[in-house]
Amino acid sequence: MDLTKTFVFVAILVGLSLAAPNLNQGLWINPEAELDVSPRKIVEGVEVPANFTWQDKDGINYLTLVKNQHIPQYCGSCWAFAATSVLSDRIKIQRNAMGPDLHMSPQVLLSCAKENRGCSGGWHLLAYKYIKDNGITDETCSAYLARGHKNGADCEAQYLCKNCDKYGNCWPMEEYPKYYVEDYGFVSGEKDMMEEIYNWGPISCTIAVTEEVHAYTGGVFRDTTGRKERDHVVEITGFGEENGVKYWEIRNSWGTYWGDEGFMKLVRGIDNLGIETNCSWANVKNSWDAGKEIIHRISDQDRTQLQKDKLYQSVKYQLTRKDREAEMYETKCRLDSREYTGGEKILTPRPHEYLNLEDLPENLDWRNVSGVSYASTWVTNQHVPQYCGSCFLQATTASLADRFNILLKRTNINFAFSVQSLMNCAFGGKCATGGHPIEVYQYADTDGILHNSCMNYESKDIEEDGLCDPINVCRDCQGPPPPDGEQSLENCWAVDNPRKYYASEYGQVQGVDKMKAEIFARGPISCGIKTTPNLYNYTGGVYSEVREITDLTHEISVLGWGKTTEGEEYWIARNSWGTYWGEGGFFKISMYENNLGITRDCCFGVPDVERSGFKTVTTEES
Ligand SMILES: *[C@@H]1O[C@H](CO)[C@@H](O)[C@H](O)[C@H]1NC(C)=O
Ligand SMILES: *[C@@H]1O[C@H](CO)[C@@H](O)[C@H](O)[C@H]1NC(C)=O
Ligand SMILES: *[C@@H]1O[C@H](CO)[C@@H](O)[C@H](O)[C@H]1NC(C)=O
Ligand SMILES: *[C@@H]1O[C@H](CO)[C@@H](O)[C@H](O)[C@H]1NC(C)=O
Repeated sequence: MDLTKTFVFVAILVGLSLAAPNLNQGLWINPEAELDVSPRKIVEGVEVPANFTWQDKDGINYLTLVKNQHIPQYCGSCWAFAATSVLSDRIKIQRNAMGPDLHMSPQVLLSCAKENRGCSGGWHLLAYKYIKDNGITDETCSAYLARGHKNGADCEAQYLCKNCDKYGNCWPMEEYPKYYVEDYGFVSGEKDMMEEIYNWGPISCTIAVTEEVHAYTGGVFRDTTGRKERDHVVEITGFGEENGVKYWEIRNSWGTYWGDEGFMKLVRGIDNLGIETNCSWANVKNSWDAGKEIIHRISDQDRTQLQKDKLYQSVKYQLTRKDREAEMYETKCRLDSREYTGGEKILTPRPHEYLNLEDLPENLDWRNVSGVSYASTWVTNQHVPQYCGSCFLQATTASLADRFNILLKRTNINFAFSVQSLMNCAFGGKCATGGHPIEVYQYADTDGILHNSCMNYESKDIEEDGLCDPINVCRDCQGPPPPDGEQSLENCWAVDNPRKYYASEYGQVQGVDKMKAEIFARGPISCGIKTTPNLYNYTGGVYSEVREITDLTHEISVLGWGKTTEGEEYWIARNSWGTYWGEGGFFKISMYENNLGITRDCCFGVPDVERSGFKTVTTEES
């Protein structure tokens, strides 16, 4: 035995492991935890097809948005992400993919499912157990902080559901939608896993991660290192065969810049990376009605519990509560277009120039066009984790995302753009003042915008010296999780060449007819309105408020119109005040007489699909 050689070999190994990313993604099984697992529901006589994916089942995408557990800083929360995406997807399946998509909040689990270790690891089964016993809220109630109960976000009512105002106050909500797991259990082995996925929906599985997995960019992956030490949790969303090779379709929580838009194909049938060893399923309890209205609200018991909360009882909160109700609406998150000097970019005829306005349909709702939703991806809450006047970014990016969906006729990618990435370039405005909506489309033309999984929403302005640094535009991070109070960006880096989404044209539009033509021909637009206390209180139905308006203070997205049985015509709009506001985050507003100024100042952007790296889908193909 040549000792020198051995020494060199060991040195190389040590060097490698130091240089390698921290591969532990956060599977940790609490040895003391007790589960109440149920047997799997078997469906007799079902023939499982050779190819199947929930991304595209008879042309419908039943999957929700791809997430990134590693931003704004590292967190070993794969277990919470795998569990919440299984749940969000199974809810979408139950609701027949009729929007809006609901994204269950991993933050609730990181803070409150304390049988796990938050950002230092956990087990998806204990996530299901927590949700079965306590319920869970969506991300518009509890935004992802990448912090757990051990490093700065210990369980309090605000981590279940909160709202914040412009005075810097936040308070836990008293009423909000909640979702439950009905039952959960284990599944393993190729055949059973395929049956479970096909009959009921995606499952979560433990998996061994290697450096090659980190570097994966596409194709059917096959591990040759033989590693089976499972340290990560992912979701399996389908299975198939490619060139005679059987594979699983896996959805990871490492952003869309990883793998194939966030997905990976892994060879199937040989327990590669231990993927077929230990998976689990969870069924959701129905807490909505006919795929639309969310009807489940917190119980009296939950409310009593809430009133004991620190934040709820805080002096500041009590003192300002009155102000809040009266003045919350006096927020300003968009600037006046009359002060905008950037102009329009119009290259092709405008829809109102070539469409016969009489021919427009009586109803149009991009959330349901012949049974397909093009507007389901994204309901946001600009006011959590703290107040920020980002409506001008929320409404415009949401409208543009819907338009990508419409143009590509490809419902198997979920488009949602990063508001924080735009804020980090202080582009167009700030939290305190808002900005010019049309500048967002202009920026999408000149610079391109990014997927939400590049930079998640933190609802804050950035420090001057980090302005538009690549690391603040699209970021990735590795372990360990930073301790309470530390940001620890030294473990983060800028992502090379993430996909950018571009616009080709943008412009302004006013008045009912032109708005309708634009929405009908090309998709949602964004419009300025005046916010009032009544609007803040809106819970459903057709809103109407005609008043003298001097300035438009808020921006929303308009995605269709309709008519009540009494003959009242209205717009269908999407707000960015969370799913607990209005009709699951949406509202209807009376069409004429310029209600709240809605027909006065709208704008639009046209996606540039080719420059964004997509092939145009022709009508024949779709
Ligand atoms: C599964 O899909 C692949 C292409 O993606 C195709 O080549 C193969 O024939 C399909 N298998 C079956 C059984 O349909
Ligand atoms: C999966 O792992 C857990 C924890 O080690 C164990 O209790 C359970 O029995 C395993 N399930 C299967 C199907 O092997
Ligand atoms: C969607 O629209 C179709 C008609 O195109 C209608 O039959 C269906 O009920 C609608 N679905 C929902 C959930 O509104
Ligand atoms: C809004 O609702 C609250 C609670 O129901 C009520 O106290 C308040 O008066 C309402 N405000 C307006 C302007 O209607």
